[in-house]
Amino acid sequence: MLRLCHIDDVPKGATRGFLPAPGAPRRVIVLWHDGQLLAYADACPHYRGGTPMAWRTDAYLSGDGRHLECHAHGALFDIASGDCIAGPCLGRRLTKVALHVDEDGTILVPDHVAGRGGSER
Ligand code: FES
Repeated sequence: MLRLCHIDDVPKGATRGFLPAPGAPRRVIVLWHDGQLLAYADACPHYRGGTPMAWRTDAYLSGDGRHLECHAHGALFDIASGDCIAGPCLGRRLTKVALHVDEDGTILVPDHVAGRGGSER
């Protein structure tokens, strides 16, 4: 397992992107949703290999805060499932990342996340 961040690094109502290891090809997006911590690879499924989605650091939410958004071409994703609900990758989904939270609040991710491809489909 790799240390991603601490639970205090993820404020409610915001998204944060963390590199799982130095030199990793993509960040992991972490956010709170309905009292649960969720995480996705920062890799839009529009193109094979995945495109980073934020328009600036940590900016992964749509303007109304109700969806994750890829700011390259405006695809919107359901926060709970990662399913694309509008945009050019309709029918695809973000790659969910399993999180483990230690008793001290450290958030860990599986080792493979540091070198993983982006798109599931
Ligand atoms: S790369 Fe994400 S919508 Fe095109």
